[in-house]
Amino acid sequence: MHGSKTKKSSSKRRVRGAAEAPEAPPQVVVLAAGVGSRMRSTLPKVLHRIGGRTLLDAVLDAAEGISPSRVIAVVGAGRESVESALSGRDVTIVVQDPPLGTGDAARLGATALSNGSGPVLVLSGDAPLLTSATLSKLIDRRREKRLDLAFLTFRPPEAGELGRVVRDAKGKVRRIVETRNATAREKRLPEANAGVYCFSPDALSRALGKLSRNSVSGEYYLTDAVEILTSSGKAVEGIEAEDWREGWGINTRAELAAAEEIERRRSLERAMDAGASIVDPATTRIGPKVRFEPDAVVHPFVCIEGTSVVEQGSEILPFTRVIDCVIGPGAVVGPHCELEGATVGARSRVGPFARLRPGTVLEEDVRVGNFVETKKAVLHAGAKAPHLTYLGDAEIGAGANIGAGVITCNYDGEKKHHTSIGEGAFIGSDSQLVAPVTVGRDAWIGAGSTITRDVPDGALAVSRAPQKNLPGWAARRRGRKAGK
Ligand code: UD1
Ligand code: CA
Repeated sequence: MHGSKTKKSSSKRRVRGAAEAPEAPPQVVVLAAGVGSRMRSTLPKVLHRIGGRTLLDAVLDAAEGISPSRVIAVVGAGRESVESALSGRDVTIVVQDPPLGTGDAARLGATALSNGSGPVLVLSGDAPLLTSATLSKLIDRRREKRLDLAFLTFRPPEAGELGRVVRDAKGKVRRIVETRNATAREKRLPEANAGVYCFSPDALSRALGKLSRNSVSGEYYLTDAVEILTSSGKAVEGIEAEDWREGWGINTRAELAAAEEIERRRSLERAMDAGASIVDPATTRIGPKVRFEPDAVVHPFVCIEGTSVVEQGSEILPFTRVIDCVIGPGAVVGPHCELEGATVGARSRVGPFARLRPGTVLEEDVRVGNFVETKKAVLHAGAKAPHLTYLGDAEIGAGANIGAGVITCNYDGEKKHHTSIGEGAFIGSDSQLVAPVTVGRDAWIGAGSTITRDVPDGALAVSRAPQKNLPGWAARRRGRKAGK
């Protein structure tokens, strides 16, 4: 962050501040009621995604990083879908209808604040590249310098329609001017408003009480808070982001795609900092919440999403997608696999062309080969299903061997049923296990069997029709065809 020209005085204040009681935790208001018409979408803007996460979730995740005592989201446009997207979060929802601007939205959001002395952060729901570290700096700066308002500024390559920060000859912030109200000279100002504010609670209520409708647009602009406070002698600072991209709000599809690329690069860097090898960064997608351990290797055209963890020395081969999975130490997954909600144990091998669906747990040294699909299936240590198999709602004992073409018939058209296969069992190829059914430990199933009843430990079960051999049949058939 820049703008620390008053180094001396600020460090003096910091010392004084250190002796004081710690500041009460912040509260956060996220503005997310706008229509987002420039996206040309039926989806509310804040529900568009980058790195697999909605814009709103990205902002809320950044807010969570500063441990706020309360988070309030102001919703409006498409509010049913925005509210349901927020259902898993501890967020207080306030409805703004009609949308009368960011000032109106902030005022409504402020009605849900609890009384307290902590600062109030107001954020835009459409700025997904903002980080918790930058929010913390804003909070610290406001506290240390006893500001009424600290807000984030940035210098984008093109300031376009953004609000510009107007400073006086000494560099002190005077006001923010929106592009549509700006003079030609103001439009040339390079420093833009990020829409990220840290207010003292008193300054916020004072400013919100004085906002008036903009004469050009008829909206209430939150940005007017700056001039309201500076003109009554309040202490306001605009603090420039170290990385301009943190201030960047998404308004169009092109910006969405550009932000996606920035987020992707950030995640790749994080993975490599953690000690993972990314063979081809240009074709690898990693979500912002994926975690890596050292010596994990990710090959080209791999996509790892959600809360996946890629552990020590594991390897993900090309054209594989991994969502919300744990890939254990030394495991190898891919190529051409799809894994969701699965745990792959240490040294297990998956693929090529395998699909592990939610609830799959592979313990250590398990082998799941090509064209195998699993769902809610636990394969204990050393179990093998090397080819062409469906294992659903099943538990497979340690060291069991599942032959090619084996199917657990788990669905009777109404309900799902469970299959249990004992330790060390051998299921011959092309067998069907009609659930609910249990195959005992060390039991054998003859190839091509349809098993409808439990098989005791150590038994052999064969259910196919006995084989008949008809000697000379082929020659007799030829004779029949030739009319002899
Ligand atoms: C706003 C700022 C501008 C700043 C820019 C940064 C104002 C007046 N302008 O402009 O100075 O440079 O952000 O990206 O604040 N929203 C509501 N209710 C409304 C209107 C907007 O909740 O009635 C929400 C939107 O959903 C969005 C955020 O507020 O998340 C910002 O609104 P937007 O319309 O994108 O503002 P900008 O024109 O980008
Ligand atoms: Ca915006």
